[in-house]
Amino acid sequence: MKSLIDILDFSVEEVNELLDTADDIIANPDKYAECCKRKKLATLFFEPSTRTRLSFEAAMIELGGSVIGFSDAQNSSSSKGESVSDTAKVISCYADIIAMRHPKEGAPLVAAQAASIPVINAGDGGHNHPTQTLADLLTIRREKGKLDNFTIGFCGDLKFGRTVHSLINALARYENVRIVLISPDELKLPSYVKTDVLEKKGITYVQTTDLEVVMPELDVLYMTRVQKERFFNEEDYLRLKDSYILTPQKLTAAKPDLCILHPLPRVNEISVAIDDDPRACYFKQVLCAKYVRMALILKLLKEAGKIV
Ligand code: CP
Repeated sequence: MKSLIDILDFSVEEVNELLDTADDIIANPDKYAECCKRKKLATLFFEPSTRTRLSFEAAMIELGGSVIGFSDAQNSSSSKGESVSDTAKVISCYADIIAMRHPKEGAPLVAAQAASIPVINAGDGGHNHPTQTLADLLTIRREKGKLDNFTIGFCGDLKFGRTVHSLINALARYENVRIVLISPDELKLPSYVKTDVLEKKGITYVQTTDLEVVMPELDVLYMTRVQKERFFNEEDYLRLKDSYILTPQKLTAAKPDLCILHPLPRVNEISVAIDDDPRACYFKQVLCAKYVRMALILKLLKEAGKIV
């Protein structure tokens, strides 16, 4: 049973096909309006979410399907001690596909191994967030017209930012993507991504603490929030939370066609004064996420033999 737990579960060709399908859905939404009639998506969210859960739900509804699920683990039987495996087996009796977010790294993989329906990782702890990556790739491709030969800066919490880890894994498979890592020393990219992905694949990267110095080089700037929920003590969070705040003044040296992304939610990392700048693409990114999740639901349900 094909699931999506890690972006590397899909080949580059499969990812490109998904992006093509998403582009086609954007151009021809009516064509897809009944594709998932009588099919059910279960959204099992053991951690808070606005975008991921609601965009999955909107995606399934726009495909003609329906949605069941929970958005608070306290309202599910996990609060009574039920395991992720048992939950996945039970939901397989009710739904056709699962989207799961969980604070524990690896929980969606455990669910996929137990379920008899496809499982989508909607974010597992500080580990991965492959559907955000699909949204990021679609946004970059629509804004830049390509996924190769460009420089992307990742700025903020690169240690706990799962969207950064997934996107770096994905971009490492395209030609000549140069990576600039901008973070405080305490929030540097973990070695399992730096050594095992960037260095192993010979990807050009630099590390810095200074956003303004590298700003003129960037084609894409991926801002991130400092992940409060992953810190062990509040003092460290308070000290690091405002390490980078993007303001119009800091953009003066940026390229005129810079593409500014942020997986959201935003706290302080991007001044609202930037929202009307044509280079601000983070709300377009939100919309791209819904369309690429529609494409993903279609692909996994087709491969499971649940739709034609
Ligand atoms: N980008 C993202 O995952 O947002 P939510 O946490 O609101 O789902």
